[in-house]
Amino acid sequence: MCGIVGYIGKRDAYPILIEGLSALEYRGYDSAGIALVHGKGFSIFKDKGKVDHLKEITKKISAGGCGTGIAHTRWATHGAPSQMNAHPHLDQSSKIAVVHNGIIENFSLLKQKMIKDGVKFCSETDSEVLAQLIGKYYNGDLASAVRRALQDIEGTFGIAVVAADNPGVLIGARRGSPLVVGVGEDELFLASDASAIVRHTKKVIYLKDNNMIELMQGTFNTTTIDNKKVNPEIQNIDWDADSLAKGGFNHFMLKEIFEQPETIQNAIRGRLLVDEGAARLDGLNLVLQELRSIQRLIFVACGTSWHAALVGKYMIEDMAGIPVEVEYASEFRYRNPIIGPNTLVFVISQSGETADTLAALREAAHKGATVLGICNVVGSSIARETHGGVYLHAGPEIGVASTKAFTSQLTVLSLLTLLLGRMRRISHSDGVTVARALEAIPKQVQKILKQNNHIEEIAKTYAKHNNFLYLGRSYNFPVALEGALKLKEISYVHAEGYPAAEMKHGPIALIDKDMPSVVLAIKDSIYDKVISNIQEVNARGGSVIAIANEGDKEIEKYVKHVVYIPKTIPMLSPLLSVIPLQLLAYHIAAIRGCEIDQPRNLAKSVTVE
Ligand code: AGP
Ligand code: GLU
Repeated sequence: MCGIVGYIGKRDAYPILIEGLSALEYRGYDSAGIALVHGKGFSIFKDKGKVDHLKEITKKISAGGCGTGIAHTRWATHGAPSQMNAHPHLDQSSKIAVVHNGIIENFSLLKQKMIKDGVKFCSETDSEVLAQLIGKYYNGDLASAVRRALQDIEGTFGIAVVAADNPGVLIGARRGSPLVVGVGEDELFLASDASAIVRHTKKVIYLKDNNMIELMQGTFNTTTIDNKKVNPEIQNIDWDADSLAKGGFNHFMLKEIFEQPETIQNAIRGRLLVDEGAARLDGLNLVLQELRSIQRLIFVACGTSWHAALVGKYMIEDMAGIPVEVEYASEFRYRNPIIGPNTLVFVISQSGETADTLAALREAAHKGATVLGICNVVGSSIARETHGGVYLHAGPEIGVASTKAFTSQLTVLSLLTLLLGRMRRISHSDGVTVARALEAIPKQVQKILKQNNHIEEIAKTYAKHNNFLYLGRSYNFPVALEGALKLKEISYVHAEGYPAAEMKHGPIALIDKDMPSVVLAIKDSIYDKVISNIQEVNARGGSVIAIANEGDKEIEKYVKHVVYIPKTIPMLSPLLSVIPLQLLAYHIAAIRGCEIDQPRNLAKSVTVE
């Protein structure tokens, strides 16, 4: 998920690797490290903290003279940010050094087996397993050892591997995590994204999934991981450095919106048991017994995370029959909440550092509650202080307006619903229905993203309006709140989210031709009632932009614009219906010329009260 840089050539690798890491800093990371191969061993430097700190601790070696090396910026998924968990990782005899992006799902099993065989581990990461495995299989042929080790691995990876005794070879391989090779004059580069190497060469090979590349002095050999020859295509990059950093998108927010098929998949991977119609969440194992006897849940969060919590309430009450309360962290912490026995508290936070959520966590723990977390940032304060929890694995979210973290939170909440529901009232076959529907979501999100241009056209029509209403019911009421929040945050346009039927109790007074309504008209049990709400808006001269299900031609009679989304089961519909709203907010803000990634007055993580 984070940054990889590798170099093999006649120049000194150190400055090239450090510069490459600096170019990847925009992605967000928690640790940095570098390994240089000098023929009889490695020079390894790594630590928690920024690339500048790495520069500081490596000052003396800048004249190093090694022409082969690998470097990494880590964004922790397994084990808190620390010196020992930073990459590169070595095998126990220090023959092999590895940097890894992604997640090794079966690392725990592999690690236990190797520990039984006497292998000594020195980090908490999943990645070290890879280094140990490659070390185990290495007998002078690095490509074969990597190939053999990858057969044992389940999960995603982008890796760069070097051997201490052979500065003449550098291996890259990928499954799920990107890797690009830079082809220079008598030198080769490897990176997780082209911005790390673009100042040295514009000629690149985008390594395909399940492919491996062996880089040698001035030459390379590309194969599939199972050793079939591949003829790679060398392409020329014509992007500028700034748009490269954003993966070719104009803003991080848009990049992150487009990452969602992948980030949702990352939240599901290894956790969804489709055939069993169930979910496993290893981070909750310690409290599994408690989960069985739980009678009440309290979700505590702020902002977008609070909206995700509200969807979670609807899911869990509907499917697992457990009463759920959703609290604003800022209210919960000061209002002396009642926490009885058999009550579990879940705090939900992308950053894991939100001051109010952290204080609420401490308040709940003080009152004796077991507190669990749903967090994105590994090793964050909330992750450390909770009794257990589930990570989103969405990668760093840079845009201040949260998008991919929201859909990952919804994904984790769906898994939690399956877990709790199967302990209670969901049958095996109903569980399978939910699991299959969840499995299909990433591809369905992809399909919605293809309508980006259509949504941009709608945005052009409404970009000058200064007031919007967002309406939804049931599972899509929280989505209406989230859609309105997105628009407010980045375009500074006034928007209100309401349960659609509540409109006639007040907001209807605002409706006229200048106040468009965005209505979530999903085909569920209350679809007809939403259509009545649309008629009420029409009757007052308001325009309606509807988010509706594919095949619903009828709705075109009642609304000015429709964005169609694929059908899914009601509880998962927010995962799809929020995507057009994120894009609509983005395009309105872009047309209005707003500073999208860092909107005025807002901080990515609100660490003050
Ligand atoms: C989301 O777009 C906002 N920037 C904000 O509401 C955010 O969700 C809130 O501050 C909570 O942050 P957290 O998830 O990191 O705790
Ligand atoms: N899973 C690895 C770790 O936690 C790699 C994380 C990354 O992609 O940076 O160390």
